[in-house]
Amino acid sequence: MLSRRLAPLALVLAASGIAPVAARGAEEAPARELPEGPLGDTIRLGKELFERTGTHPLTRRYVKNALSCASCHPQAGAQAGGATLVGVAAAYPAWSPREKAVITLEDRVLNCFMRSMNGQRPPNGGAPAVAITAYLTWLSTGERIAQNPKAPLGPRSFPKLSVDPSKVDTARGAALYAERCAACHGEDGQGDPPVWGPRSYNAGAGLADATKLAGFLKVTMPPDEPNLQDGEAVDLAAFVNAKPRPDFDLSRHLGPSGAYNATVREERVRAPTWPPRPAGKR
Ligand code: HEC
Ligand code: HEC
Repeated sequence: MLSRRLAPLALVLAASGIAPVAARGAEEAPARELPEGPLGDTIRLGKELFERTGTHPLTRRYVKNALSCASCHPQAGAQAGGATLVGVAAAYPAWSPREKAVITLEDRVLNCFMRSMNGQRPPNGGAPAVAITAYLTWLSTGERIAQNPKAPLGPRSFPKLSVDPSKVDTARGAALYAERCAACHGEDGQGDPPVWGPRSYNAGAGLADATKLAGFLKVTMPPDEPNLQDGEAVDLAAFVNAKPRPDFDLSRHLGPSGAYNATVREERVRAPTWPPRPAGKR
């Protein structure tokens, strides 16, 4: 049925001399070829920056922890069913409730540096912004444009898990962590990559929200064979996010230019705890 729906598109593309994208299921990524010339080079650079964000000479000054974009978006954002970024470019410009603004894909990329990477927002239009955005746009080759009026998320973003505080068991989270996570991430959380402490994501990052971390763990961890039950993912998320990590103060993460497409220009978030702090005591 899908292929029948795509057939006329394939014909139009064939007539225009552009190679048609392969028909695909919901999980399968479309076939993509690197364009020739400077665009192809820029896309390739973007992938490199995505994988080596903290060590590459073009991006390392903007990163203040031990993570790369690929630490949370495995297979350079192309992992089917994981924290994939395939299709995300088709959702932008999108409404972002956090910034209370319509933001571009470039904005979203640059904002990740302030939060998930605990660093500084690189300049709009600079080499990292252009290359990473080019790479993510290329990952969306063949996607139907469907701008998102509710959230800056793509069509395949992973679902959050609901967290019922009365059922969360952090002792079970600790036991599961020792058994199934510590071999790679360290008993002290400082393995590769670190999952708490000053070298991990800060309190302003998506993963600092236990509902998102639980959803993330469910689709990505352990790598290559994610196997957690919902309740296990939730207990682990509460355990990991009760450990110390950097607070977030937006004003300290805007780069030298201060350029920031947002209506919300002040934001302070303290590192999460478990049980969560009572409302009003952020
Ligand atoms: C610490 C983990 C982490 C790191 C590191 C990280 N991200 Fe993400 N990223 C997330 C999570 C979690 C979400 C989903 C957030 C949500 O649900 O609001 C996300 C969402 C996104 C999105 C929105 C698309 C979607 O549909 O989910 C983009 C684009 C993105 N990240 C790009 C990047 C780039 C570029 C970098 C590196 C500069 C990066 N991320 C680093 C965790 C991370
Ligand atoms: C075999 C090694 C391995 C195991 C086991 C494992 N991870 Fe990971 N984890 C990784 C790697 C490697 C990454 C970086 C992404 C990738 O390459 O898949 C990662 C990324 C992460 C991230 C996002 C990046 C960060 O550092 O914050 C979190 C959170 C995480 N893992 C938590 C867990 C939890 C909780 C478990 C136990 C259920 C677990 N992992 C099991 C290797 C592992």
